[in-house]
Amino acid sequence: MITTNLNIAKIALMNEEIIAMPTETVYGLAGNAYSEAAVKKIFSLKKRPLYNPLIVHIKSVDFLGNVAMDIPAKAIKLAEAFWPGSLTLVLKKQSHISSLVTAGKDTVAIRVPNHPVALDLLDKLTFPLAAPSANPFGSISPTTAAHVSNYFNDDLAVILDGGTCENGVESTIIGFKNEDPILYRYGSISVEEIEAVVGTLKYITHNDTKPDAPGMLSRHYAPATATYLTDDINSFIKSFPGKRIGLLVFKNEMINLDVIHQEVLSTTGDMKEATKNLYAALFRLDKSNLDIIIAEKLPEHGLGKTINDRLERAIKK
Ligand code: TXA
Ligand code: MG
Repeated sequence: MITTNLNIAKIALMNEEIIAMPTETVYGLAGNAYSEAAVKKIFSLKKRPLYNPLIVHIKSVDFLGNVAMDIPAKAIKLAEAFWPGSLTLVLKKQSHISSLVTAGKDTVAIRVPNHPVALDLLDKLTFPLAAPSANPFGSISPTTAAHVSNYFNDDLAVILDGGTCENGVESTIIGFKNEDPILYRYGSISVEEIEAVVGTLKYITHNDTKPDAPGMLSRHYAPATATYLTDDINSFIKSFPGKRIGLLVFKNEMINLDVIHQEVLSTTGDMKEATKNLYAALFRLDKSNLDIIIAEKLPEHGLGKTINDRLERAIKK
């Protein structure tokens, strides 16, 4: 059921059920982070491998010490700068955090979401919420309640409707090695914004079989339709004669008779608007009965890096 009634959501969560919850990034599949039964349900609903840990959502920075310990000074600085907001910190976990949530790691991913519905809900609860994005493992993340219901239809008793997600892609994830911040996942806060607070970030080395941050898996966020990424759409189209083609472009609509469906991310070239529209545009393309989707690479700065990162993972390998 799609609803705006927080009490229904609260009761379901207290009964160790799973609900869909809006955040400013994407919708999440939320359950009591302190309940093993609830956490198990999240993994099975999402068909998510148990090696892929969940993010724990807390109501404010004041609750950080309940879930994490030995917190680096730069983590505090980042939390103060960006929470509530789209930054997830991977920190040493408190011993009572279930290893199911953390996939056996001694670290836990934590964030304070910046969405009034999520914050009001957390405020009514005595426990934090474990919540991955509300999509089956590997597919596009949902940015509306309708997307969630499209994926999980009857499997969810409650889908809390909080409108269209303002940011449109997942949080940026930062971990630490000793005291040094490391980028685990590009997200809706740009690298440049984070570096302005804590200096130069390091990057994790990529490893698909034992990922430090499985959000970095090379195929993820993928439409069912074969998707390609290029910075020269015109010549790319020519190599697919007779195909039903869909386009995802940054700001300039292309005039081409072979194109059946086209999505322009931001006519003014605004990266924030483009990011907000990205997943919804991919959803519409994926539903348009196409043979292929051709996506245009964005300029490699700011949120352009985040969009390119998601598109890289969406492409046919
Ligand atoms: O914006 C978001 O972050 C959304 C909303 C719902 O908050 N959530 C989200 O969750 O994107 P999910 O589960 O789809 O992605 C969480 C990412 C995964 O890539 C996971 O591997 C990583 O966080 N992660 C979680 N715990 C970790 C840990 N202890 N160490 C490294 N990576 C971790
Ligand atoms: Mg996800």
